[in-house]
Amino acid sequence: MIVTTKSLFDVCYGRFAVGAYNINNMEQILGLFRGNIESQAPFILQISRGSRDYADKRMLEAMIRTAEEIFPESIFAVHLDHGTEEVCHDCIDSGFYSSVMIDASHEPLEGNIEITRRVVEHAHSKGVSVEAELGMLGGVEEDIKVDEKHACLTDPDQAREFVKASGCDSLAVAIGTSHGAYKFKGTQGLHFDRIEEIQRRLPGFPLVMHGSSSVPPDEVARINAAGGKLDPSARGVDENEFARAASMGVCKVNIDTDGRLVWTRVHREFFKNKPEKFDFRDPGKVFVAEYAKFIVHKNQKLGSAGTLAEIRRRAGCQACG
Ligand code: G3H
Ligand code: 13P
Ligand code: ZN
Repeated sequence: MIVTTKSLFDVCYGRFAVGAYNINNMEQILGLFRGNIESQAPFILQISRGSRDYADKRMLEAMIRTAEEIFPESIFAVHLDHGTEEVCHDCIDSGFYSSVMIDASHEPLEGNIEITRRVVEHAHSKGVSVEAELGMLGGVEEDIKVDEKHACLTDPDQAREFVKASGCDSLAVAIGTSHGAYKFKGTQGLHFDRIEEIQRRLPGFPLVMHGSSSVPPDEVARINAAGGKLDPSARGVDENEFARAASMGVCKVNIDTDGRLVWTRVHREFFKNKPEKFDFRDPGKVFVAEYAKFIVHKNQKLGSAGTLAEIRRRAGCQACG
């Protein structure tokens, strides 16, 4: 059952976070649904503009609708990740997406509010939730490169003003993370003091954490042992901190890079160990199983594992009207 992100956040706020997983192909979709059913968790399936171009938006929709038939127990939101205004309007009109992210965080405050407001008006008229972003993460966001020096944490007072003026349903905040495999150096980590300040000004309002992959060192080591060349000092978010962030109002935790690492490790190891093989379904099966295992693990850390029955009672009912 497809539900809005808002209905999921109404249930999880302050208690646990829902995993938002980026999806690009059939194997990821199968592993995603399997892992969430195994761990009895709701989830957010998110689709970037890059994914819509790679797989074709119609192909993605057909695969996701089919996965819903294969896994009828599943409860999830279909969310556009880092949308432009144009793509947001397309997704809202499609009748398939239950949530969109308008990312106008590179605009000055007034422009960000104006664009977000327009998307919110359209989205709410169709029952679609809207995530907006304020502040700038480091790293690479779609086609916008944000120099780490200029990455700025979300200003708590601006966040309150932005939410009131834009009418968005959730807010992606810059709290120290960045996209990709190379996030932290030395003792860097999440800025809990900043999350606390934002929550104080926006009590009960759902916050979103982008750039939440943990980039496990053992995963990087396995990839490199099988021929990869990733920087072994790569570090991500400590997944043991998800629970604390969730208690402070972080309801949605975005994970893409870690899933790409699972894919890379499975395929590098498979072909290194079995160089005579060429049937792509063999590593594909291994990947689906490993990706499902990865989803189970993340959901346990997020606290969403085991909450499906409650979500069905509460968020599911809202979705049915
Ligand atoms: O934040 C970006 C996500 O990781 C999506 O990445 O644009 O390469 O699909 P992508
Ligand atoms: P990671 O690169 O840390 O997986 O972040 C993904 C993300 O924020 C997608 O919007
Ligand atoms: Zn992101």
